Amino acid sequence: MKILFIGDIVGSPGRDMVQTYLSKLKKKYQPHVTIINGENAAAGKGITEKIYKNLLDWGAQAITMGNHTWDKKEIFHFIDDATYIVRPGNLPPDTPGNEIIYVKSNGKEIAVLNLLGRTFMQPVDDPFRKVDQLIQEAKKRTNIIFVDFHAEATSEKQAFGWYLDGKVSAVVGTHTHVQTADNRILPKGTSYISDVGMTGPYDGILGMERESVIKKFLTGLPVRFEVPKQGRTQLSGVLIDIDPANGMSKSIEKIQINDDHPFFS
Ligand SMILES: [Fe+2]
Repeated sequence: MKILFIGDIVGSPGRDMVQTYLSKLKKKYQPHVTIINGENAAAGKGITEKIYKNLLDWGAQAITMGNHTWDKKEIFHFIDDATYIVRPGNLPPDTPGNEIIYVKSNGKEIAVLNLLGRTFMQPVDDPFRKVDQLIQEAKKRTNIIFVDFHAEATSEKQAFGWYLDGKVSAVVGTHTHVQTADNRILPKGTSYISDVGMTGPYDGILGMERESVIKKFLTGLPVRFEVPKQGRTQLSGVLIDIDPANGMSKSIEKIQINDDHPFFS
């Protein structure tokens, strides 16, 4: 059972990369399920209904979110009907949206979870205790459980990965937008990477125009960050192969498409 996960789509450059390359990646890697982090898909913050539908049309089966879930106000109008969006699970009870979704492929179900870290982030409920609850629920239906852990600190991400080793199929980090080189299978069979990296501008800073980010560091003054409309772009992802018999991972491979790592079919 192969899962293709594409890291944080940033604005229109990120969406264009998905539209251009997702069909090519599917042809090359033949994933059974494609999951995309879409929390930065609308101009760098949040997601709209149109973009959500586009990502599904282009080939995603599940969209994970993060700390920017609520940034586009229209999400409150469609999230309860958005069967394929999973929002962070460790938000207060009665928050709108799904904290767990199931995707079907080849007669199997894949549970998709999304949790937020707490270190250097806005206060949220404990992701460790919450994920245990969600795993218990998911295990009633399937042994294939995919977790997008949207967090800032590598220490918290590693702790989450090790905590979940043997309990879920995969823990992939998102949010920090730079792909890390620590993809591995943990000893009990959970695949792990601290951050998958982002999909969008290649020459910005974490997907934003670099001039404004540099100005912020130089002056400390409030600066508006925008997604650059032009320039080179990149796609970051991972391909995970899971044994459907026991739900544990066999491999996790990094994917990068940019001018330094061109796509070969
Ligand atoms: Fe984020």
